[in-house]
Amino acid sequence: MTTPPTAPTGADRRRGPLRPGDQVQLTDPKGKMHTITLVEGAAFHTHRGVLQHDDLLGGPEGTVVRIGSTDYLALRPLLSDFVLSMPRGAQVVYPKDAGQVVQMADVFPGARVVEAGVGSGALSMSLLRAVGDTGRLSSYERRPDFAEIAKANVERFFGGPHPAWSVTVGDLQDALVETDVDRVVLDMLAPWETLDAVSRALRPGGLVCAYVATTTQLSTTVEALRAHGTFTEPQSWESMVRGWHVEGLAVRPEHRMVGHTGFLCTSRRLADGVEPPLRRRRPSKGAYGEPAAEAPPAERDAPFRPDLP
Ligand SMILES: C[S@@+](CC[C@H](N)C(=O)[O-])C[C@H]1O[C@@H](n2cnc3c(N)ncnc32)[C@H](O)[C@@H]1O
Repeated sequence: MTTPPTAPTGADRRRGPLRPGDQVQLTDPKGKMHTITLVEGAAFHTHRGVLQHDDLLGGPEGTVVRIGSTDYLALRPLLSDFVLSMPRGAQVVYPKDAGQVVQMADVFPGARVVEAGVGSGALSMSLLRAVGDTGRLSSYERRPDFAEIAKANVERFFGGPHPAWSVTVGDLQDALVETDVDRVVLDMLAPWETLDAVSRALRPGGLVCAYVATTTQLSTTVEALRAHGTFTEPQSWESMVRGWHVEGLAVRPEHRMVGHTGFLCTSRRLADGVEPPLRRRRPSKGAYGEPAAEAPPAERDAPFRPDLP
């Protein structure tokens, strides 16, 4: 079955017989991976022997090819495989966090999304998949060299330029002039410096999502959102993923896991002129340092959020 011409950008690169230009991940029995890009007549050399690309071309994924006396499983890399093996300028958003961003920032097909910084383009790929060809992702990156790395990564993944994507080189807070934006996703050192620009860009009900690595960044971001006056009470969390070893009766958590990647924080844009509702719960004693009387007088909270179990 051939893919219809209206298939979303990059979809035809992800299914069907293996074609020149496709990436294939070769995994040996110990889990060691090599990623190759198929070229007619080319060969892949390892210390174990040689694999002719033509042996894979035209065939399905999920086959086993032999190099010397070792069998390799041949599969197209998933997006999560791709981002962890692609060239990096800056540190990428891990797949577990990219999934959280797409879900918890409610990035929907057709959405108008602003993102900064682009870094290596890992999160851009997840956002582009979520907004689709009819959406818009405007990405801002202050470093031109990182922007170039990201563009190359994104084009390699989708098999060419993505119609929904534009990259602007510059600081988000200076370069952002868009309005009526649905979502803003920030992965940068100091997201709090961009809040005026983000607030101007977002439509009422729009959402800002910040991904930060440290507790001090999280604290500064949350307090800046509260103090801004145009956002709802921020929600903050982190996610941890622990793999499991499952073999016969030996069913237990993996010994190793990625202990920390980053924190996520989301907040919604209020309509112009609307005051954030007063907080129901007072900050705990000493939360803003002693004496407690110095705590901000009118703290605000998410008034419509039910208590979770
Ligand atoms: C951790 S990296 C982003 C990684 C990216 N999300 C990914 O998944 O590949 C942070 C990037 O933000 C950029 N940056 C920092 N502050 C910025 C700003 N105010 N405007 C635009 N880019 C900024 C940095 O140059 C850096 O490339």
